[in-house]
Amino acid sequence: MPPNDSNLSNQLNLQEQQRWNKRYSKNNKDPKVAKVLLENQHLLSSQGEALEIACGMGGNALFLAKHGYDVTAWDISDVAIGQLDIISQKSGIKVTTEVRDIIANPPPVKCFDLIVVSRFFLEQEMSVVLINALKPGGLLFYQTFTQTKVTEIGPSNPEFRMHDNQLLQNFNKLQILVYREEGIVGDISQGFRDEAMLVGQKVEQ
Ligand SMILES: C[S@@+](CC[C@H](N)C(=O)[O-])C[C@H]1O[C@@H](n2cnc3c(N)ncnc32)[C@H](O)[C@@H]1O
Repeated sequence: MPPNDSNLSNQLNLQEQQRWNKRYSKNNKDPKVAKVLLENQHLLSSQGEALEIACGMGGNALFLAKHGYDVTAWDISDVAIGQLDIISQKSGIKVTTEVRDIIANPPPVKCFDLIVVSRFFLEQEMSVVLINALKPGGLLFYQTFTQTKVTEIGPSNPEFRMHDNQLLQNFNKLQILVYREEGIVGDISQGFRDEAMLVGQKVEQ
């Protein structure tokens, strides 16, 4: 029998959930906004449907909601989502949250004007899913760790970091508005290091 909707949304990788729950249970930091949003906020609209995936405590989701978007935020960790719900209630900034494994239960097609992903590695197959989930004209903001790095921040397993230009290649079906990846060129004590950022727009119908 095919699973019904509620069964579907309950499908998640429990091991991964426990791993992240442990981290968030010890966490006493405030949610942060990714540079890809902060540095490119002039590209935002003041309305629309936005989705943050693997949102953690939802720094980006809260930022977009303050900007005027109707925001949905998903994470596999119920502890992280619980922390985001508390911040959202206390601050009066509305974010619709869901505990959701985005690999097992990816977003539906053509639903979002904006999708943001920060510090979360996705395989190339998932790039197509994200592009499909955007409405025509929709924007993707993505920032994540690269294998070329100058510090030890981020995942130690290189499989969970993008190789050189990988983010650019994964989203080459989008119109690229911003791409930044500085590797180890020049003065490595300055600049945007250890990560790549991309803003792209879905141009096709
Ligand atoms: C490094 S944290 C980044 C959190 C947030 N995006 C940020 O930039 O602060 C990675 C997040 O991915 C979430 N995550 C891991 N696997 C996931 C999955 N399959 N579906 C949804 N979220 C997942 C974790 O719970 C964690 O919150």
